[in-house]
Amino acid sequence: SNTTSTRDEKLLQICQLLDNNISYYNWVGFYFKNGDKNELKLGPYVGAPTDHTIIPFGKGICGQVAVSNQNFVVPDVAAQDNYIACSITVKAEIVIPIFVNGENIGQIDIDSNTPDPFTEADERFLEFVCSKVSEIL
Ligand code: SME
Repeated sequence: SNTTSTRDEKLLQICQLLDNNISYYNWVGFYFKNGDKNELKLGPYVGAPTDHTIIPFGKGICGQVAVSNQNFVVPDVAAQDNYIACSITVKAEIVIPIFVNGENIGQIDIDSNTPDPFTEADERFLEFVCSKVSEIL
């Protein structure tokens, strides 16, 4: 059986699928560019609530990806000077941009409580997830 899901319900299901199945994915969420403002806005997520529901372009790992249009893999968040801490348990982070018609419209953000857990396989897998996400936006 199946029922109709809204966009945000689908995005939340993707967060839950990733969080439930990959042990070192400990916070999984989406940020999207907020209209014509130079900032990101938090979308669906799974994990500890964060105060950082709005992130200015350029700020933190997420804000840097909004500007660079590139994957950002952080093996050790303590070594980053432009980093926004959401939880003291987080050791590493990966952010992958989402493109619609070649435009960076948002990103998936994953935090890990494990040091240096992310490989190129995570990047390729999450790029695939983001390409599928771009089709439902
Ligand atoms: N650490 C991110 C902020 C978002 S939280 O991880 C949920 C950053 O530096 O942009």
